[in-house]
Amino acid sequence: MAILLTGGTGKTSTRIARLLQDANIPFLLASRNAETGAPSGMPASKFDWLDSSTFENPFHYEFPNGERISAVYLIAPAVTDPVPALNALIDLAVSKGVKRFVLLAGSSTEPGGHHVGQIWQRFIDAGLEFCVLRPTWFMENFSEWQHLATIKDEGKIYTACGDGKIPFISAMDIAAVAFHALTDGKPHNTDHRVLGPELLTHDEIAAKLSSGLGREIVHVKLSEEESAQRYLKLGLPDQFANFMSYLEAAAARGDEERSDNAVERISGRPPLKFDEWVQQNKKAWQ
Ligand SMILES: NC(=O)c1ccc[n+]([C@@H]2O[C@H](COP(=O)([O-])OP(=O)(O)OC[C@H]3O[C@@H](n4cnc5c(N)ncnc54)[C@H](OP(=O)(O)O)[C@@H]3O)[C@@H](O)[C@H]2O)c1
Repeated sequence: MAILLTGGTGKTSTRIARLLQDANIPFLLASRNAETGAPSGMPASKFDWLDSSTFENPFHYEFPNGERISAVYLIAPAVTDPVPALNALIDLAVSKGVKRFVLLAGSSTEPGGHHVGQIWQRFIDAGLEFCVLRPTWFMENFSEWQHLATIKDEGKIYTACGDGKIPFISAMDIAAVAFHALTDGKPHNTDHRVLGPELLTHDEIAAKLSSGLGREIVHVKLSEEESAQRYLKLGLPDQFANFMSYLEAAAARGDEERSDNAVERISGRPPLKFDEWVQQNKKAWQ
């Protein structure tokens, strides 16, 4: 068994890689910059969803004991329609003997629905071994992505989430579920909502960061349009800036307000609480 992790420099794949390393399961990280950007010492291969000539690269990698790639973790690229590229890699992988696919999707993904919902439907129709992960919003959005700079520089978090409650999840807990979906003897052949243990508003997140970091962090409430403008300034393409602000407005209306025990059920331990996660990640805001 060997596992191919696309999104190879990203938040979830690097954490899955650590779990695989600890379990002595061979893996390969793949992305445009994985060879230089993956954690030091981890095997990596150049792979670009927008350049199909790179798709063979991971399959040419020589694992130490001649293992073959048996499962692939799929993270779609941020393009309008990632489905053709994902289908092309899945075609190739199946032709190379890959049996299992684990897709990182989102809360709103549905089988047969738009975007990667099409890939979910393909798994079902083709009788492939699969698992679709539908995580809620990542805690790492505050430490590695869109909110990091403003928390550090201004003590502020800007969103159009209003007072919407979200069961924020740590990437480590998503990785723990993905690890099982990729390596369990029995394929999951289903989706998992991957949710954290507490429903929190962004005001509550700001208060928890304030007490954890010992300085005031404030949540600034924006309109959907103001939030889209901020995402544009962050460099997101038009469509994604609008999608992100749409998701924030949907969260304000309660779209993310749900609970589930998938992390504990699948990984055997409860997901991290936000306060614990802040304590573990304090370095990020120094
Ligand atoms: N953040 C959230 O709150 C949230 C919530 C639910 C779902 N999600 C989903 O989570 C996924 C992101 O996962 P993540 O956070 O683990 O990753 P991430 O940290 O956002 O990193 C994205 C990864 O994709 C790679 N990548 C980007 N464009 C690529 C391309 N053209 N070809 C090959 N690789 C490419 C990047 O590596 P290189 O730059 O080296 O290519 C990087 O490794 C997205 O699908 C998002 O919708 C996120």
